[in-house]
Amino acid sequence: MNSKQNRREFLAAGASLAAATALDAFSPIYGAVDLNAKPAILGGDKLKYDAGPLWPTFVGGEVERLTEVFESRQWNRGDESSPTVVFENEFAKLLGSKFGLAVSSGTTALQTALSALDVGPGDEVIVTPYTYVASVNCILESYALPVFADVDAETFQLDASEAEKRINENTQALLPVHIGGAPADMDAFLELGKKRDIPVIEDACQAVMGEWKGRKLGTLGSLGCFSMQISKNLCGGEGGVVLTDDEFLAYKVLDAHTHGFLPHSGRSLDEYRPVRASNYRMTGFQGAILSAQLPHIAAQADVRNENALYLSSLLRDIPGVYPQRIYGGGRSAWHLYMFRIDEEEFGLSRDGLIQALLEDGVPCYAGYQSCDWTGYVRKSLDTRAGRRVYSKERLDAWEEATSLPNFHKLSQEAVWLFQYQLLAPKENMDAIADAVRRIKKYAPDIKKALA
Ligand SMILES: Cc1ncc(COP(=O)(O)O)c(C=O)c1O
Repeated sequence: MNSKQNRREFLAAGASLAAATALDAFSPIYGAVDLNAKPAILGGDKLKYDAGPLWPTFVGGEVERLTEVFESRQWNRGDESSPTVVFENEFAKLLGSKFGLAVSSGTTALQTALSALDVGPGDEVIVTPYTYVASVNCILESYALPVFADVDAETFQLDASEAEKRINENTQALLPVHIGGAPADMDAFLELGKKRDIPVIEDACQAVMGEWKGRKLGTLGSLGCFSMQISKNLCGGEGGVVLTDDEFLAYKVLDAHTHGFLPHSGRSLDEYRPVRASNYRMTGFQGAILSAQLPHIAAQADVRNENALYLSSLLRDIPGVYPQRIYGGGRSAWHLYMFRIDEEEFGLSRDGLIQALLEDGVPCYAGYQSCDWTGYVRKSLDTRAGRRVYSKERLDAWEEATSLPNFHKLSQEAVWLFQYQLLAPKENMDAIADAVRRIKKYAPDIKKALA
């Protein structure tokens, strides 16, 4: 949406947008930032910065595909020719995995993955505290115990050496999350999994098209789980995918997502592969949108990557600003653009910077807040069933061993930008960096104004 369009006009322009590529939809304006002028928070002018389009954006073909689904009456997952099945196969092919299964969300992707690995009550799964709550809830949903290991504050990722310290005889899975779309240290996690004979599930919910040494994230572990929820780089409103190269696990996730086995259908019990199953199917409507958007994600990923690397090169030069470090050999999907602020060096608190950027018109936020994860888990398990599985002594020892200083530090220091800001022209990256520079220059005044 450009500055002269209102939302209604933007939507009316849908037909011409449909004929264009997704990237043509982004026409933000940019006016050079006067580094000497006061930032808006001190009464100066707002930046001429337009964050860009409405998200999700249209790439063309969605309406036709939705209409086809509607008229075909296959509103559900449908048969082999349905857009949902076509989408899961094309997604797996694009990312380089043997099997793909479309499901209703990233959360249910994770749940089916844990079911397929038979993770259940009393088992432990090692996970990062710097993640969306779904990465933890999927473990609790199977009455397994989330075991938190600390993060590396520079990369924002679960630290493999911390994870190793938390492995014991109950550990049934390692669940690194590619946070922000950037890779966790997959060499370390795959090696650790192999050494201790523990499967690695990749929570790649934010990492569609991220890479590790030339391979796509979500294709390296035993299972990879993706989200197509509304904010995600590939978005179907809601949705998810599970990828695996393992045929046996592929059958298990397929069964887990659609009632596994229908005892009353006349099938023989010989066909039954026991799995905790439910209905996690993706609808035809989700498949229609996702299959239309899929061909555009590689080009979008390239633009985000180019802009993000450029933005990092600019921000890195500002004292007190530390862009998320990407492990060597990794490429982020840039679902989030994240950096840290060292308050001392920068001269202003993280929250002060966010407030000033927002006043200048640059969308940003603080991301995951520091929280009491063990308290949350204890409370979640303080139910009749939870108490039956976990003794107080076991939970006391588990809590005692949980130490997350980097998670708490990161939660105080991080600033996040949205992925769609990286689809804007390169000049917008200059605008963001200029805005941060200007705020730093006026930091003492802003500090006083906010006191
Ligand atoms: C890291 C992570 N894991 C899991 C999820 C859950 O995905 P969904 O919202 O599609 O259920 C999300 C996203 O929302 C996420 O960011």
